[in-house]
Amino acid sequence: MQSLYWQYVEDAFRRVAAQYGYQEIRFPIVEQTNLFKRSIGEATDVVEKEMYTFDDRDGESLTLRPEGTAGCVRAGLEHGLFHNQIQRLWYMGPMFRHERPQKGRYRQFHQFGMEAFGIATPDIDAEIIAIAARIWQELDIREHAILQINTLGTLEERVSYRQVLKDYLQSHYEQLDEDSRRRLNSNPMRVLDSKNPHMQNLIKEAPHLLDHLSDASLHHFERLQAFLTALGISFEVNPRLVRGLDYYCSTVFEWVTDQLGATQNAICSGGRYDSLVELLGGKQRVPAIGFALGLERVIALLEKKKSLSPTVDVYFILLGDEAEAKGLSYAEQIRSVLPDMKVLVNCGGGGFKIQFKRADKSGARLALILAEDELRAGNVSIKHLREGHPQISISGDKLVEWLKNELDEK
Ligand code: HAM
Repeated sequence: MQSLYWQYVEDAFRRVAAQYGYQEIRFPIVEQTNLFKRSIGEATDVVEKEMYTFDDRDGESLTLRPEGTAGCVRAGLEHGLFHNQIQRLWYMGPMFRHERPQKGRYRQFHQFGMEAFGIATPDIDAEIIAIAARIWQELDIREHAILQINTLGTLEERVSYRQVLKDYLQSHYEQLDEDSRRRLNSNPMRVLDSKNPHMQNLIKEAPHLLDHLSDASLHHFERLQAFLTALGISFEVNPRLVRGLDYYCSTVFEWVTDQLGATQNAICSGGRYDSLVELLGGKQRVPAIGFALGLERVIALLEKKKSLSPTVDVYFILLGDEAEAKGLSYAEQIRSVLPDMKVLVNCGGGGFKIQFKRADKSGARLALILAEDELRAGNVSIKHLREGHPQISISGDKLVEWLKNELDEK
């Protein structure tokens, strides 16, 4: 019953998003290819290798969204959401990447994302991270989620650092693998992200971006750390965390887990993208920060922790035509008066034994029985299926009231 887990986490996301005053935004699954090229960056893995791109009948290049941030910004701009405004938004839905499928990595996967626009100060960075922490809390998987943070500084700071890094990598060219040699010119910071064990020493010795940041950038990062400490959210600073999408600047973070294997360890990732709104046509600079978490990975964690099964409260066992008619109408009365009660009616007939078996399998706590004797007396018999109470009979007129008391006691 996988769908139970999906509903469970989706409900938790919606609840937490509402607690923090975030509004849902819905935007298309298909966008013009250029949107992703411009925002995510031409030299990234996502754009270079992973997009599902096709020409439509008019010869226009379209792409199935590989992530949500670009579409969220495009839609927000189109509807004038950002001009001199603060927006706190969330979304949920399928994303598509042509990656090598394996456990925890799929070609169609699902993200829950949150994006906050119009706030430049690190308090919103802390809020965004705290939301993810609360989601882990709600799902009872907090101990499996480890927060790593880093800062990428401003674009200008990165440009000068890139040169330093490029010089360093160039001077160790013979130690670089094929991928890293390719990235050396297009995206040298991604070399730091390499998982190749033979390159880890080289990466460890590489110059740190942190040593090339301005006071303002460092201050932002320090304030974020102070907020997180005040919130009781523990974190590791990982100077090698660079993220695979080009729009990031300043704060970046990832929640990782040791429960899902080495390559699929990120359950939630995000960061600041203060230039993206302007890049995509905004009239002013709109600072922004957000994250997306992978539902499949979160659900995989949850499944290890929790066993969910469908629940119903009562099951109607009905013998004979008259009982079936009466049972259907009792069930409707119950649903009208007690909307939280889950009522299953035996449909499709069957003998007493079969119906009891079905009642048991349904997980119901109570079986409500209508057969000849009950009909004659105007009664309903009630049997507790999980506890050893004796079977009782009550007047049909009192059934709803009896169930209401039972529900209150629960
Ligand atoms: P991302 O790191 O590319 O960031 O993806 C976010 C999360 O989606 C990952 O941490 C992972 O849990 C999940 N994920 C990614 N690829 C797959 C896959 N193939 N199969 C299963 N799960 C996957 C973004 O997408 C940014 N838009 C996040 C963001 C929002 N940054 C700012 N705002």
